[in-house]
Amino acid sequence: MSRIAYVNGAYVPHREAQVHVEDRGYQFADAVYEVIAVRGGGLVDEAGHLARLKRSLAELRIRAPMRDTALRHVIREMVARNGVRDGIVYMQVSRGVARRDHPFPAAATKPAIVMTARRMPRFDLRAPVTGIKILTVPDIRWQRCDIKSVSLLPNILAKQQAREAGAYEAWQVDADGRVTEGASTNAWIVTKAGELVTRSASNAILNGITRLALIAIAAKLGVRLVERSFTVAEAKEAREAFITSATSFVLPVVQVDDRVIGNGEPGSISLQLREAYADHMDEAARRSA
Ligand SMILES: Cc1ncc(COP(=O)(O)O)c(C=O)c1O
Repeated sequence: MSRIAYVNGAYVPHREAQVHVEDRGYQFADAVYEVIAVRGGGLVDEAGHLARLKRSLAELRIRAPMRDTALRHVIREMVARNGVRDGIVYMQVSRGVARRDHPFPAAATKPAIVMTARRMPRFDLRAPVTGIKILTVPDIRWQRCDIKSVSLLPNILAKQQAREAGAYEAWQVDADGRVTEGASTNAWIVTKAGELVTRSASNAILNGITRLALIAIAAKLGVRLVERSFTVAEAKEAREAFITSATSFVLPVVQVDDRVIGNGEPGSISLQLREAYADHMDEAARRSA
């Protein structure tokens, strides 16, 4: 099945999909995006992702490209036309096409929307998993990390630095030595006292939809959660650690820089939350049909 992309109202072959050279997303990173996981043909936490998209657009004063019902229809069309059973849908909305100039273009300028869908092998979150390594790096981003903007240069540099160091993810660290979040994931630890800790939502992090789902899951399971920041030193002393995102799900961490976490194996609370998240994904995807 050949891939189809959606570009400003048209479904086109993926290899022919193009945006205008003066799209403000292309020239200024004046655009926002969302990634929704597809599980068994259904969408995971679609409502949360669309609510966050709306918020990102509003914060940047970019108009919504279409009504919610239309957007939900296009997303489903993309899943169907690309034969996605498991994978992701990516959508990006820019302020539109206009002659290059920093101020906003005329109010009548239409926002531009593109969407892609990608098939991926089905991930079994109940299968044994080896944990990942984290590299800590300074957080050099701006003060609106709560907006899911396509302006991702610091994230890309952090991720690349991690990969070159043999780590899977980078944890970005603020000026006070506290972890903000990963390059494309939220960061969590379980302290020696058994407390689950993740940074509270603020302008310093993207409020992950997976993060929000996991907060609800932890409450249901009776896992004690504290939303607060934690230092790199605290992370290195933690009993467990893991990362979350729509595409990484709940992924255990077994090393931070040169320090092995716990006994070097994925922790029991991390694995319990990973399994519970698998159930949540299946259930949420079923409900989205
Ligand atoms: C910087 C950052 N933090 C956190 C996340 C996790 O968000 P979500 O759980 O909605 O995928 C992402 C996802 O792309 C991200 O880019």
